[in-house]
Order: sequence, then C-alpha cells, then structure tokens
Amino acid sequence: MRRLACTLLLALGSLSQGLAVEGASFPAVSGSGGAVASAENASTEVGIEILRAGGNAVDAAVATALALAVVHPEAGNLGGGGFAVVRIDGQLASLDFREAAPADATRDMYLDAEGRPVDDASRVGPLAAGVPGSPTGLFELHQRFGDLPWSQVVRPARLLAAEGFIVTSRLHRSLSSERESLERFPETVRVWLPEGRPPAVGSRMRLPALATTLEAYAEAGPRALTSGSVARAIERASDAHGGLLKASDLASYRAVWRQPLTFDAFGWKLASMDLPSSGGIILAQTVALLESLGWRQMPRFGADRAHLLAEVWRRSFADRFLMGDPVTTEADSQSLLAHDWLAYWRSTIRMDRASLSADLARLPESLPPESSDTTHVAVADRSGNLVALTTTLNDTFGCRLLVPEAGFFLNNEMDDFAVAPGRPNLYGLVQGEANAVRPGNRMLSSMTPTLVWRGSEAVVLGGRGGSRIPTAVAQVLLRLLVDGDPLQTAVDRPRLHHQWLPDILRVEADALSPETVQELLSRGHEVEIWTRDAKVNAVRVLENGTFEAAADPRGPGSAGVVTPMD
Ligand code: GLY
Repeated sequence: MRRLACTLLLALGSLSQGLAVEGASFPAVSGSGGAVASAENASTEVGIEILRAGGNAVDAAVATALALAVVHPEAGNLGGGGFAVVRIDGQLASLDFREAAPADATRDMYLDAEGRPVDDASRVGPLAAGVPGSPTGLFELHQRFGDLPWSQVVRPARLLAAEGFIVTSRLHRSLSSERESLERFPETVRVWLPEGRPPAVGSRMRLPALATTLEAYAEAGPRALTSGSVARAIERASDAHGGLLKASDLASYRAVWRQPLTFDAFGWKLASMDLPSSGGIILAQTVALLESLGWRQMPRFGADRAHLLAEVWRRSFADRFLMGDPVTTEADSQSLLAHDWLAYWRSTIRMDRASLSADLARLPESLPPESSDTTHVAVADRSGNLVALTTTLNDTFGCRLLVPEAGFFLNNEMDDFAVAPGRPNLYGLVQGEANAVRPGNRMLSSMTPTLVWRGSEAVVLGGRGGSRIPTAVAQVLLRLLVDGDPLQTAVDRPRLHHQWLPDILRVEADALSPETVQELLSRGHEVEIWTRDAKVNAVRVLENGTFEAAADPRGPGSAGVVTPMD
C-alpha cells in the first residue's frame, strides 16, 4: 500500500509526500505548506494540488470532497449531505448541508399498521433518501470562502470521472460485500457490477454520466443538479422504486450557516458542529466533564480513565435522546452544556461503580447490525485557515440506488431519524421523539468536524463511523492535548466506545490490559471486544509552522502535506 502511494505521487510529479494506510500504522507526514487528510490517495492528492495551485483550505477541502464523490462512492457524494466547520482569516463559521426529509415524508412512513418497522425501507431503496444537501453545501462553502474559480475547484473531480481512476482493492471489497443489496437496482448494476461483478482491482473505472454532471455543476453551480434534467432524473429514479423525492424538494433545499459550537478544554479552544449534529455537544460534554473530574491527574493507563469515559458517554448519549433538528427540538446545546446540567451529571458519577443505562432511560427491544459510510476531510493551509468537512451517504453506497443520468448514489439518511422512536437505528442508537420524521426536518447526526487551536498551534479532525465518531474524536483529542502524543500515535492508539444503549463498553483489542478489564467488570461494566471503531483523519499545525497529516490505520485513509518549493 505504501509503495503504491509513493508511485502515485511520483507519477504526479508532486512536491507533496503522502501515504495510504489501511490496517497498518505509519509516521504522520510533515511539511511546511499545508496539509490534507482524506479517505483516498486520489482525493488527498487533489487537495494537495489545489493548495499548491494557490487555493486556500476551503478550495482544497471542497475539491477533495468532490474527488471523493468519484473515487470513494461508498461515502463521497453529490447525493448525500454533510457539515463543515471552518476558520478562515480568523473568522469561524459552520455550514449545515445535512439532508432533509422530503415534503411528502410522514412520521410513520416506515411503520406497518401495528407500528412495526417495515422491512429495510428506511435503509435500502429511495424511500430511505433524504433531500441531498451536498450540491448546494459544497458550492456555498466555496462561494463564501474559496479563493480559486469554482470551475478550477470542480475540475480535478470531473477529470477523475471522465478519464477514470484505478479500482482499489478497498473499493472492490466494498462492492463485493454490498453486492446483494446493490443488485436490487439494475441502474446500479449497470455501472458498478458490469458483467454481474465488481470491476477488477487495478482496472480503470470511468464514470461518464458523473463527469457530465460535474461539468454542468462547474458551469452552473447547484442549479445544474437541483433543477432541470438532473433533478427530474432523480425524481424519476426515486419514483420508479417507490421513493418520495421530488424535483421540487431539490429546488427548495437550502444549506444553513449556523453558529459553530465553541468551547474551551484543557487550555485549548475548540469549535465543532452544533445541532442537527449531536457530535459537537457530545464532544463538548465529554471534555468538560472529564476536565472537571480530574482527567489530567489520573493515571494514563488503568481502569479509572476507562471507567470515566464510559460514565460520561453513557450520560451524553442519554442526552442525545432529546436531540433533533433545532427547528423542532427543545433541547439545545446551551441547556445541555449549562453549568448546572453538567454539575448534575457530575454528581451522579461514582468512581467505584458503573451506573446502569437503564436507570437513565428505557432499553431498546432489539439491536441491529452496525455499518456506516461517512467520510472526513481535514485541511490546513499556510495562511492559518482550517477546514473540517464531513460528508455522508449514511450507509455504504447510501440507499444503493444510483441515478443513471446523474451518475451518483442517493443517500439513506432517513434512517438517522428515529424511524420508530425508542427503537435502535443502523448504529444501535436509540433516539427520541425530538428526532421523529417531519417533512423538511434534518435528521440528527453524530458527525463531529472539529477545529482546535492554541496560539499558532491547531488541529483539524473528524471521522466516519456514525455514533462512534464523537467518542473517537474525543479520545484522539485527549491524547494530543492532555497526554502529548504525536499526531499519528493519537490516531492509532486503540479506543473505547459507549453510547448509553446498548449498555456495553466496547473496546478495541489491546486497548486495555486483562487486569484493567477485570477491574472494570468488578465495577459493574459489561465489556465487549470489537473491531468497528470510527476512522479519524487529522491534520495539525505545530508552533514552529510545521504541518502534519495523519490517516487512521483502521483505513481507508491518506495523508498528504505540501513541502517547500525548490
Ligand atoms: N449518518 C451518520 C451520521 O450522520 O451520524
């Protein structure tokens, strides 16, 4: 994998360095002209090339996200949505381009007459699709903060789609493992399972319909996708398979600039995403509670810190039950981060005994399998600009339906609503009435695009993995800000996860010693080894102006930096 990455970079004649990681750990790459981390070599290279061409961090992040829409179709998208948190010329902003429920959506649209969820309708097929936000969101982000012409930012993705890219073993694997659900849609089969199977590893994949869509997007901006023939094609494809999406939904979609959620922790300043993502609130609660409970003074390894993480997350995810679209939810970041509320939660935590999640609310009846497909882009440029941009289709290849004329997949983000309030979703998350399906509402997310800074030092990070994102981001930050780990080590180290329900502390292999596990069991935790933690991408600016980039060895990931011009 490493050799492949270097060959690609040499072939591109790039001044950057980079590497792809999947299941193996490498040192973070470092340079002095900016840094990009994303899921794929090809997309990270696009970001680096844009920085080298004089683009700022927003130009690079948007170009990288569009490249991901081509080479990483599991999650990169034009048919999904996402969030961005940026610091440009010292100004903080966050953009919500989360999908929204179509106008014809109804609260019980996924339930039968007895109130039971119908098959997999909220996950597979276009009934699962929210109104895509990416076409509008990526454009607006660039319009407000980008430096380069829009057409220059879209061009690398268009070229990747038109001229083709090499099918990686990772993409081949994803297509193979999702084959059965992809096969339900002839439109998808024609592009991604030609001759009945995924394209061979190493073959060149061209996506002419997507290239045409990107060309129109470069010329006309989001109108090219939210009105006219592409919007009509989306409605047609959706209608043909029982979906609700209409061209009028696309035309009326708006991205929303929101106040970023800002807070301090351990002497650093942080900015993350507020509702309709729960990620920023969970992260802010986590660091605030840990700091006030003496995290810094606790032994780094051993049961106390693991116990405290489980206790804090149990409470943060119980609060998540109250969250939803800020238009209709009563709980907001202000009340959930209020001094009194955090003090109350603190007073309920005992160091010698685990709480029971059931004491904080009611248990789900069953647990579904976990899966996820979201992708994070982290960029820092030499002018001090920072961009954390996370986009998603929700599940791998979204709802699996590819719109043939447009060349991209539609999301299955509707499953992030509380499809049946009180029952677990794709991530095992039990969600409340606040997040019930309402036409036009945004479904609650866990994405956690985050910026951290202290003087001239900065970190940009985020990840994929649904409910596991905020807990992974929190752990990487604690290792960097409190324990002083190098960037790559902070990303690599095994992690823990708890999300209130199910009431289980999930631990990656080697995260805890057998003695620590024993101690946690004796305090009353249920502990389970798992391999499904989030994947975090991060870049960092050191005090001396050096840039570092790190991709998660849990993969896929690719980190690149710009090195000095000769
Ligand atoms: N679709 C996963 C999330 O937004 O959290």
